[in-house]
Amino acid sequence: PNHLTIGLFGFGVVGEGIYRVLEELPSLNARIKTICIRDPHKPRAAPSALFTTDAAQLLQDPDINLVVELIDDAAAAYRIVTEALRSGRHVVSANKKLIAEHLPELLRLQQQHGGSFLYEAAVCGSIPILRNLEEYYDNDLLHALSGIVNGSTNYILTQQAKGLDYAGALKQAQELGFAESDPSLDVEGWDAANKLALLLAHAWGIVTPPEALLRKGITRLRPHDWAHAREKGWRIALTATATRLADGKVGALVLPRFVDEGHPLYGVRDEYNGLVLESRLADRQFLSGKGAGRYPTASAVVSDISALSYGYRYAYKKLRAGTGGGLSDEFSLDV
Ligand code: HSE
Repeated sequence: PNHLTIGLFGFGVVGEGIYRVLEELPSLNARIKTICIRDPHKPRAAPSALFTTDAAQLLQDPDINLVVELIDDAAAAYRIVTEALRSGRHVVSANKKLIAEHLPELLRLQQQHGGSFLYEAAVCGSIPILRNLEEYYDNDLLHALSGIVNGSTNYILTQQAKGLDYAGALKQAQELGFAESDPSLDVEGWDAANKLALLLAHAWGIVTPPEALLRKGITRLRPHDWAHAREKGWRIALTATATRLADGKVGALVLPRFVDEGHPLYGVRDEYNGLVLESRLADRQFLSGKGAGRYPTASAVVSDISALSYGYRYAYKKLRAGTGGGLSDEFSLDV
């Protein structure tokens, strides 16, 4: 396998998790050379010689062949990721907002400069869904996917179902490190829409801006919705759904729905995510796992690092095969 020398951006919930995991996994042919952070005065649980605040210096270091971007600020992350790809480096990121909003440009940069860009951790945390969509289903086999793709809202809804109030449940989701630093991204369904946009790209080759998707979050649920759920023995879940229509186009939306006891998503609690996939040959499949938090997210980042060490890149073969179509032709990308 190729040896990877990593420049890490960010030492927050996930960044520190990656650092610790790589320390424990010497079999992975990868080592962190430099960690770029914003605040040099915060105490850090790693040797101080690893840290820098100089992003430009890290990005110019000829030893570093992989940039792992795990920062919060989407605008700064955009500059880091695009510059790293422009220099031909490989990039791993968990930044669903950045990736969903700039996917066409990020695809072009990989093509032009040869770096590989992987982002399994951006969608459904620990569930290995993107590589699965890339490789498992041929073009026309997948009919539909639907599931819970945001851990914070699922955590909040699970606590609310037990009687906790919304504000208290949101505070817990923040304290546990599940929520975005701007939690309106979670509760208004933006995070789910960003993830759905990435699912569409890998499932059917449809590249669409997340703001084009129909979206409703969990902030407008009313007491009578909860009363109805309780009376019927149902749960409420924020779901992202994409369904292939007869004309080959795909309808996609994010919205809260009732889930009855017989549904596979019924048992998906707390920060877990779950996805139901429907395909011609396999019929129904169900994947679930933790969708947020330090080590579940680190699990997907480490998996990307490992995949890169043996040369993996997303083929985007559905885009290339020109399945076209999609929500709107003007958004489909001709790679
Ligand atoms: N805020 C996100 C969530 C983090 O709650 O799912 C993981 O993408």
